[in-house]
Amino acid sequence: MLDVKTFHMDSFIPMPYEEALSPRLKLAQDKLQNGSGQGGEFTGWVHLPRNYDQAEYARIKAAAAKIRKNSKALVVIGIGGSYLGARGVVECLQSPNYNLKKKDTPNLYFVGNALSSDAMGEVMDLIDGVDFSVNVISKSGTTTEPAVAFRFFRNLLEERYGREGARERIFATTDRLKGALKSLADSEGWETFVVPDDIGGRYSVLTAVGLLPIAVSGVDIDALMRGAASMMDQCAVPGYECPAWRYAAARYQLYRDGRAVEILGCFDPAFRMMAEWWKQLFGESEGKEGKGLFPASVEFTADLHSMGQYIQQGKRLMFETIVRFGSSARQLNVPEDAEDGDGLNFLAGRSMDFIRDKATEGTLLAHTEGGVPNLIVEAGERNAETLGQLIYFFEYACGLSGYLLDVNPFDQPGVEAYKKNMFALLGKPGYEAQKSELEAKLQK
Ligand code: PA5
Repeated sequence: MLDVKTFHMDSFIPMPYEEALSPRLKLAQDKLQNGSGQGGEFTGWVHLPRNYDQAEYARIKAAAAKIRKNSKALVVIGIGGSYLGARGVVECLQSPNYNLKKKDTPNLYFVGNALSSDAMGEVMDLIDGVDFSVNVISKSGTTTEPAVAFRFFRNLLEERYGREGARERIFATTDRLKGALKSLADSEGWETFVVPDDIGGRYSVLTAVGLLPIAVSGVDIDALMRGAASMMDQCAVPGYECPAWRYAAARYQLYRDGRAVEILGCFDPAFRMMAEWWKQLFGESEGKEGKGLFPASVEFTADLHSMGQYIQQGKRLMFETIVRFGSSARQLNVPEDAEDGDGLNFLAGRSMDFIRDKATEGTLLAHTEGGVPNLIVEAGERNAETLGQLIYFFEYACGLSGYLLDVNPFDQPGVEAYKKNMFALLGKPGYEAQKSELEAKLQK
């Protein structure tokens, strides 16, 4: 079972903070469980792993099977919470090289998460002559990046398969009732899946938003949900037995003690996109009203040869949270070399996991001695069930953390600022007044 540990925390925070924080965590817990805190109307994810639409879940599996049968590629269109979780899970459990592997499941291409003509054009080239389907995901149904990308890929589908044929290949995941995507889907007869009203984008990976692309890749979504449900049960009981309490308390105490940055690190490169998901989760949930830890991420050991220098000796503003996985699925041992020209025979016969674990321990000691506190999340073996636990654990800890900071962990008002400017500068109807004002500022 997932566990959270602190590493030599007493050299940074000598006082026992857990007991003092307990009443505040209990309040935060009640707010999450009852939906009675700020943004409480967006706490549907709290009970989701045991309380989801079974009929829709069955449709997700059926749609995934259909896509696997008639497509060699699935283009997943979405941004932020509408793509990071799915990509994170697929890369973590299947591989960051998923598309390059020999397999009987479709390639997944994630688009609509940028405004790069080259990046999108490349995916168009990659699916040229390949049977494909599209899963367009947008809760609001109006986000510019995915909406623009969808125009291109819908055109491609309709050119290739005709409007009727395209209908069999477009899957829209959006609001139950409102938004441009929902209206389009209804009028065109595309199959739709729902982003529940009470679940915001960054908490939606265990809804159709994440589950459909994840299921298409062949990940066992039953196991993912089972893991999340077991963590949900653990988190429902208030107290420090709950790992989310331990994590939320430690990181909050470090924040109060002056730490401004939390770096999430993992010694497995497959975790890179899960760390991106985590950054969005915590960054959008906590970073408001001038508060919050800045979430950053590193991939070890690669980043020990770049960011490691700053972590060890740069400005002392961060702490680290290390996600540790157990044994690798594949065991590789260092080969013996009779000549030992590289002097590595002291490692001959040792497993890569052994070397990784020693590197982890060495890094924990070095960074701690360099003045960087470390928290450890022991995640167990890397599989669908443990990843389901980890996802729910981070979501719950994030909700608790937001309430400890006294912010609304479920809104993202700051995201609107760039959008308004972009719409005005692009000449979107309704933004005429701001356009000339912004253009004048750009000239200064
Ligand atoms: O967490 C969030 O709410 C955001 O990151 C959204 O997921 C993102 O902006 C995409 O929004 P939408 O799904 O409405 O297109």
